[in-house]
Amino acid sequence: AADIDGAALRADLAEFARIAQANGGNRAHGTAGYQASLDYLKKRLDTAGYNTRVQQFTHAGKTGYNLIADLPGRGDPNRVVMLGAHLDSVAEGPGINDNATGSAGILEVALAYAASGANGDKGIRFGWWGAEEDGLIGSKAYVASLSAAERAKVTAYLNFDMIGSPNPGYFVYGDDTRGTAIAAALRSGFTAEGVEPESADLKGRSDHASFKAAGIPTGGTATLSLAPTMSPAQAARWDGQAGQPFDPCYHKDCDGAGNVDHDALDTHADVAAHAVWALTGVKAPAQP
Ligand code: PHE
Ligand code: CA
Ligand code: ZN
Ligand code: ZN
Ligand code: ZN
Repeated sequence: AADIDGAALRADLAEFARIAQANGGNRAHGTAGYQASLDYLKKRLDTAGYNTRVQQFTHAGKTGYNLIADLPGRGDPNRVVMLGAHLDSVAEGPGINDNATGSAGILEVALAYAASGANGDKGIRFGWWGAEEDGLIGSKAYVASLSAAERAKVTAYLNFDMIGSPNPGYFVYGDDTRGTAIAAALRSGFTAEGVEPESADLKGRSDHASFKAAGIPTGGTATLSLAPTMSPAQAARWDGQAGQPFDPCYHKDCDGAGNVDHDALDTHADVAAHAVWALTGVKAPAQP
């Protein structure tokens, strides 16, 4: 698998922070900051050879947008592995850990996959969701828009939400049905990174729930669980701060450029890449 470049992730976050700052301090559903965030991703993906599509929906009297990107000519388009992240912030702040980190993480995986020429037996697709913060609205609209035949082509959905918390955990979640081994691929990625992950039940609190509800196997990683603070055992395992929140700026104005652990983000993005290469069935090159 590709090693995702930490400096590229950092540059993406800086751009999302700049966009928020230039647009009233947030990137929420229905705002110019959301639109600028989507434009940034679309341009990068189009340049890299992705077929991109903007899907519209209406929520709370405002038009929302999802961005869907397919990479032509790689693997079987009738059996795809899909990665997703919500692109909207809450209205209270710029949404850098939540969820510029997941948005940047899957962008860099997408760019690395295209650039590497990786060609597995499955196809690959990426989605950035609008209005997650209002109740998973964008991802629900996407899943609802698929016919039963199109839904069946999505063999796995991997979700990335808050993968750079300042007091980071290394959590894997999943509802691994049909033997797709999503959580196993993610765990093996953490092992390759020298990190001991923990399983967490995120109770349908992010966009994977929209896919799970449609019977699609799902999984993902996050730097927080639903517990209010990091436990002493977790702090020992991850060299973190016991009794402190994973993200003290969750849904606040202070979720800006400084509210990220860049090493944790790099690790979670590397894990995402590891899982994508494994799940799309990319064969390792022969050893010389
Ligand atoms: N989805 C929640 C939000 O965006 C937070 C969350 C992230 C919950 C990751 C679980 C896992 O606010
Ligand atoms: Ca890396
Ligand atoms: Zn949120
Ligand atoms: Zn989120
Ligand atoms: Zn790494």
